[in-house]
Amino acid sequence: MVTIVGIGPGNKKFITTYALERIKEADVLVGGRRHLEEFKDIDCEKIMINASTDYHSILNKEGNIVILASGEPSLYGIAEVILKYVDKKQLEIIPGISSIQYMCAKLKITMNDLAVVSLHGRTEDLVKKVKENKKVAIFTDDTHTPQFVAAMLKEENLQDRKIHVGENLSYDTERIYSFTVEELLNCNKKFDLNVVVITCGNI
Ligand SMILES: C[S@@+](CC[C@H](N)C(=O)[O-])C[C@H]1O[C@@H](n2cnc3c(N)ncnc32)[C@H](O)[C@@H]1O
Repeated sequence: MVTIVGIGPGNKKFITTYALERIKEADVLVGGRRHLEEFKDIDCEKIMINASTDYHSILNKEGNIVILASGEPSLYGIAEVILKYVDKKQLEIIPGISSIQYMCAKLKITMNDLAVVSLHGRTEDLVKKVKENKKVAIFTDDTHTPQFVAAMLKEENLQDRKIHVGENLSYDTERIYSFTVEELLNCNKKFDLNVVVITCGNI
């Protein structure tokens, strides 16, 4: 049996009781370094994943294979990869709080009309999404940084937008910033793990 467990933005406070139960029952616990570190106390085989992981051999192991997924596994998460290898009947997905949900709660904005874009290891038409939506949330990476987003907005003459950056969400080092496009372009801080939310008007 394979279980993908959404563990939320990172801090264990935000994981569901059911997700914790399934993690405790794991024979094989699979995840990135940041996630496995949170579960050092679980006594089972641990496999750290990276970009070149051979999922086929991991998923053929005996017993309960539990895969730790950041945030919500089905929102630009690991579920997309695992579904290519595992029959749906052999798979359970336990939802988690997405880093974007968490960020919207912090900003106190509703998600009804929020568009979500991922620039994490992929490209999507961010400009089109920003032109069509008053709120856009973005998963970033080391190349597609908050400053990269600001530069793109300036190039498209979308300087009236506000850019909110949520860094290390849910951890003790969490910081939430709000910038104008110009302010962010002039900011040379290298942000740690982050999501960006773009808003328009008085939101
Ligand atoms: C592959 S995506 C997975 C997103 C995940 N499925 C979710 O719902 O949060 C990874 C990206 O999520 C964001 N992220 C995940 N955890 C975060 C956190 N604690 N603080 C800020 N951003 C986070 C970052 O943009 C990171 O590059």
